[in-house]
Amino acid sequence: MADAARCLVFGGSGALGGAVCEALAADGARLVLTYHAREAAARALAKRLPDAAAAPVDLASVASIDAAVDAAAAHLGGIDAFVQCAGVAVTSAGARRPSHPSIAEVDERGWDTMLDVNAKSTFFAVRRVTAVMRGHGGGNVVVVGSIDGVKPVPAPVHYAASKGALGGMIAALAKELGPDNVRVNMVAPGIMEDGISRVLDDALMKEYLKHCGLRRLGRLGEVASVIAWLARHNTYVTGRTILVDGAL
Ligand SMILES: NC(=O)c1ccc[n+]([C@@H]2O[C@H](COP(=O)([O-])OP(=O)(O)OC[C@H]3O[C@@H](n4cnc5c(N)ncnc54)[C@H](OP(=O)(O)O)[C@@H]3O)[C@@H](O)[C@H]2O)c1
Repeated sequence: MADAARCLVFGGSGALGGAVCEALAADGARLVLTYHAREAAARALAKRLPDAAAAPVDLASVASIDAAVDAAAAHLGGIDAFVQCAGVAVTSAGARRPSHPSIAEVDERGWDTMLDVNAKSTFFAVRRVTAVMRGHGGGNVVVVGSIDGVKPVPAPVHYAASKGALGGMIAALAKELGPDNVRVNMVAPGIMEDGISRVLDDALMKEYLKHCGLRRLGRLGEVASVIAWLARHNTYVTGRTILVDGAL
């Protein structure tokens, strides 16, 4: 891969995505990072990094995804690495515990939003990005999943389903895209100190920690460094889900 790798990070305005951008930039990457609602945070981060630009995307719209990928490819002159680090955890705001609705509280709209933003968007984004990569000698795709889609942990069922879908998706993508020198992997974090986990209640957090081998939450940088390595330096790992969960 070229020294100044050209990286597109979806969800750069988020907690983990921001840490991934920092890690990639520290490793010399040129970046386009996306935001949805938090434009100011994304622009501030892009300004702080040596060679980064912020751009909008709405993962609920395939047209928006295609436009964001095309604009990033044009800005960077190609894409060597793509990190899909954008996602939602709460789509049933009216539930008794919005962060953990029961199956009775998940309506069709909440289900569709969860699956569209976390899973469907990933397929269409990867398809668009790898059309660019295949013409430029290949690259790395890193999708961010979650422990909820890999192990039986207490989780909103539609969130777990959206993350579980990614495991099958990246395995099949690795087979289809391998001949074009495109590697596709997933990093599945356990529970981290910041980001989406902010919505978890104290009782559930304590329960997670009780079962975590390392007995502590993951730091954003600990997960981001694994993602950044896969995006920037990986040459032979593909089709794999890598749990970064402290042995939860
Ligand atoms: N934090 C954890 O403990 C944890 C554990 C396991 C897995 N994860 C996974 O890690 C990834 C990053 O989460 P995080 O913890 O960093 O959460 P976060 O801080 O809430 O970041 C979420 C990111 O997704 C973007 N996003 C949300 N909806 C979007 C949409 N419709 N279109 C485009 N972008 C959208 C957000 O953009 P705006 O902020 O600009 O709206 C933000 O950049 C997610 O896939 C999450 O499931 C996190």
